Amino acid sequence: MKETRCIQVKLGERSYPVMIATGMCFAENFAQRVAEFTKEESVLIVTDSRVQPYAEKVASILKSKVNVKGICVFPEGEQSKNFATVEKICRKAAKLHLDRKSFFIAIGGGVTGDMTGFAAAIYMRGANFIQIPTSLLAMADSSVGGKTAVDLPEGKNLAGAFLQPKAVFIDPLFLDTILSHNISLGFAEIIKIAATFDKELFEILEKNAFTLISRKDPVLFEEFLQRACQLKADIVSKDEKESSVRGLLNYGHTFGHALEKLDGYSKMYHGFGVSCGMYMACMLAEKLNMQSHEETKRIAKVLYDYNLPFYFAERFDAKEVYKVMLNDKKADKGSLKLVLLWGIGKGEVVKDIPRKTVLAAMDKARFQNRDK
Ligand SMILES: NC(=O)c1ccc[n+]([C@@H]2O[C@H](COP(=O)([O-])OP(=O)(O)OC[C@H]3O[C@@H](n4cnc5c(N)ncnc54)[C@H](O)[C@@H]3O)[C@@H](O)[C@H]2O)c1
Ligand SMILES: [Zn+2]
Repeated sequence: MKETRCIQVKLGERSYPVMIATGMCFAENFAQRVAEFTKEESVLIVTDSRVQPYAEKVASILKSKVNVKGICVFPEGEQSKNFATVEKICRKAAKLHLDRKSFFIAIGGGVTGDMTGFAAAIYMRGANFIQIPTSLLAMADSSVGGKTAVDLPEGKNLAGAFLQPKAVFIDPLFLDTILSHNISLGFAEIIKIAATFDKELFEILEKNAFTLISRKDPVLFEEFLQRACQLKADIVSKDEKESSVRGLLNYGHTFGHALEKLDGYSKMYHGFGVSCGMYMACMLAEKLNMQSHEETKRIAKVLYDYNLPFYFAERFDAKEVYKVMLNDKKADKGSLKLVLLWGIGKGEVVKDIPRKTVLAAMDKARFQNRDK
């Protein structure tokens, strides 16, 4: 079996490893690896309806060494990310007599991970949690860092908790069945983290767009994933609860969230919103003499190469978008707080940007599409 790449999230007694290896979750010794964490404790696997066949396969491998009590399946999609599903997970755990030493194992994308983590955080005031991410977004972003949540009718991720997993197992083999637009949505978050923190990672994205998006070179892909996860792990290790640097990961998000909300969470998927948000932030940073036009072009080209939209459609009214942005949970009362770049790899939170300037930047972000 090939070597496993291992990253540590360093949070004192809550530290944990993030392991990456292609084929790892389908190998016979996977049960032993997981059992090192779960020991004799009971385990509930949580998955969605689309990932269920994988979860069943992994469960059958785990059963030789891990005390798997059952699988809880919910209908796939963001619509399931609510209290009703979390109640279902907790009730299943109760019926199977799990206790607070038990483990909830998420096998799925970001929705599964966020909800399983939240269920684990509140079940008997806190059980244990392991992540087996199966979407690119979950592998490179949401499975590392301990943010768990559900959506409310009033907005996304409005109820949640911090609970760090005990371990994260990343197996790129899962990605073989993922839809291509979901791969692009994952890349949106990786482009975001590279643009705000890591110029070299951004250059890797620039130089290898075709190879990475097609995953034609599994070794390069694993190396790349390791780098992206290491970056996220370092940021979380420095600022677990988002009181400083972790806040830079909201690059493109305030604007993106506004588009998602105005679109009624239908076609404007999160990653697409973020990608439009990053481009809008480029326009704004240029206006404030922070970032050069050359760098804007590089960012637009990367978004384009990973099949991400970056102009925002005519159907969104800029003033409406601005209003929704002011109500974002990350905004300061009455004033916009946005992450902008001084250049690629150098993000900063900028406060009190005048409304006029934001609206002017939005105008440019709408019309300068395909600015390559
Ligand atoms: N906790 C965090 O730090 C954090 C960070 C970013 C995003 N998020 C959250 O993550 C969610 C988005 O994550 P996502 O894009 O993974 O959504 P998702 O979990 O809904 O997965 C997207 C789709 O891909 C399917 N899928 C997943 N793995 C698959 C596979 N291997 N093969 C085939 N289909 C597969 C799912 O069934 C689903 O239909 C949002 O709810 C967002 O709020 C959380
Ligand atoms: Zn995001």
